[in-house]
Amino acid sequence: MLLLEPWEIESIHLKNRVVMPPMCMYSAGQDGWATDFHDQHYVSRAVGGVGLIIMEATAVLPEGRISDHDLGLWEDSQIEPLQKIVAGCHAYGVKVALQLAHAGRKSTCADLPKYAPSAIDFNPAEYACPSAMTTADIKKAVKAFGQAAARAAQAGFDAVEIHAAHGYLIHEFLSPLSNTRTDAYGGSPENRRRFLQEVVREVRQNWPADRALWARFSATDWLEGGLTPADTVENINQLQQDPSSRLDLAHISSGGLLNAPIKAFPGYQVGFAEEIRRGCGIPVIAVGLLSDSGMAEEIVQHGRADLVALGRELLRNPYWVLQTAHQRGADELIPEAYRRGF
Ligand SMILES: Cc1cc2nc3c(=O)[nH]c(=O)nc-3n(C[C@H](O)[C@H](O)[C@H](O)COP(=O)(O)O)c2cc1C
Repeated sequence: MLLLEPWEIESIHLKNRVVMPPMCMYSAGQDGWATDFHDQHYVSRAVGGVGLIIMEATAVLPEGRISDHDLGLWEDSQIEPLQKIVAGCHAYGVKVALQLAHAGRKSTCADLPKYAPSAIDFNPAEYACPSAMTTADIKKAVKAFGQAAARAAQAGFDAVEIHAAHGYLIHEFLSPLSNTRTDAYGGSPENRRRFLQEVVREVRQNWPADRALWARFSATDWLEGGLTPADTVENINQLQQDPSSRLDLAHISSGGLLNAPIKAFPGYQVGFAEEIRRGCGIPVIAVGLLSDSGMAEEIVQHGRADLVALGRELLRNPYWVLQTAHQRGADELIPEAYRRGF
């Protein structure tokens, strides 16, 4: 089964093409530190045999957390607990990426400033109205992404994923529905992607050249006047033109900017991944209700995506890969210690 065969990105060898996508556990201490829970949670998915784990949204600044219990990497003391988790996963031959994030206007942290490209709220009933970022705020956030990437390198991560999806800060800059600025960071597609481009450049400068660097995108806002898959193709292609902002891969999701009518069904985002893979010529991860192994295999066999991510399925069942290997007659992929269980 191709899904369970190895795949390479930069110098990174994945033992199969199944990915655990980033999923916030909202279980860190108020200081943003990873806990024993995170250790058990990620290492058990490594024992379960996925090829790549992308660890949950990890804030580059305290005010960039979605909640008071998100992981953070804004100071050096936060490196060590993450380093332990990475080493724990590596012991099972699994590669680990970290998602670097800033929540922007979707932060619900107590007593911290809320800011966004423009002073437009996500949802007035539940979220505070953000202030529009000054140029100094923008420069500070860009720098913080780079510093967090340098810490992620020290922690031993194999890759970093820049979170540019789901209505968080970078997505807020990209979409005309949340960015009404008239300065160099708004008013045209080129200006709206400037923040993302500066973040990617800063991360590249602080990230080892032989490790992978990519971003996660919401291919569409699912809303009139919002981002479309064609816009996302263009945004990525523009990044790719400059080696300093080049991505090694794109992880394709959708939505999250505002409430939108989304009809989710198995594979509902795969067409977007396919369009971006074709339109940009870069490897992609497809995600979204893909827990049927036949469907996941079809996606990689037809070259619709290079890797397939299973989120909620892996929360329910850390052993999905081992069970799939058994069902497909590939018991040699099951660790010796567990074989009698199949
Ligand atoms: C509990 C939970 C937390 C999530 N946290 C994040 C996150 O930190 N970063 C992110 O980009 N997506 C996050 N997501 C979205 C998932 O990565 C994934 O795209 C989504 O669950 C759809 O895939 P699935 O149908 O296989 O679950 C989260 C989803 C869940 C269920």
